[in-house]
Amino acid sequence: MVFLLHLDSSAHRAGESTTRQLTGLFARHWLAGHRDAGYRYRDLAAEPVAPIGEAYCDLGRRVERHGTAFAGEQLIRTAAERREWNWTRELADEVLACDVLLLGAPMYNYSAPAALKAWIDRVSFPGVFHGPGGAPLLAGLRVVVVTACGGAYGPGTNAESRDFLTPYLRSYFVKQGVPAVNIEIVTADLTLAWLVPGREPQQPAAAAAFAAAQDRLIQLAESR
Ligand SMILES: Cc1cc2nc3c(=O)[nH]c(=O)nc-3n(C[C@H](O)[C@H](O)[C@H](O)COP(=O)(O)O)c2cc1C
Repeated sequence: MVFLLHLDSSAHRAGESTTRQLTGLFARHWLAGHRDAGYRYRDLAAEPVAPIGEAYCDLGRRVERHGTAFAGEQLIRTAAERREWNWTRELADEVLACDVLLLGAPMYNYSAPAALKAWIDRVSFPGVFHGPGGAPLLAGLRVVVVTACGGAYGPGTNAESRDFLTPYLRSYFVKQGVPAVNIEIVTADLTLAWLVPGREPQQPAAAAAFAAAQDRLIQLAESR
């Protein structure tokens, strides 16, 4: 059975959140084409992942010392380490079990929201996405990231060099063993054109960006 893991991280939980609208669109279309699929939804803003603690670092450093092979379970020494490990294991298992990871990731201060970063730090425990000998366990995973930003950071824009969100997420998933060709990032930019006085002239471009993101996500959802 194929499995979709759907994560949203926008702190804006109302219906007009751009990333939430767009991840929802992808999920609906993908699930319509995969009627027997498993589906897990997490709202990382509503139910925040606990930031990693000292015991996570203690256990992680012990695992690093024993090499990269995954050995977290056997190396646990304290109740605090057990707690940290269980939180990590649950979230990492969801990633390992899914075929498609759908991620809503708005730009906050040029980068990822803290809610998403907490999830990333929590699941990226040493060795958890690599098997014996370092074989990547996420080599078959498909990742669809939906981003939104108030400004515009695309190629050729003045702000291009300040986009630390999309290069970061791409690098992160590649480092975890996801092939670069399996990572799709779809962006709806200029969203503040609808909110900030004076930005009305950007509204046609914002509407076009949103429509293009919708089209692309439907295409991706229906492609396989
Ligand atoms: C805390 C915070 C920081 C933001 N930082 C940026 C930023 O650095 N650049 C930008 O273009 N937009 C920024 N924005 C605007 C959001 O990226 C934009 O509103 C986007 O549509 C949010 O996604 P959402 O609609 O799914 O909530 C920021 C918004 C918030 C709440």
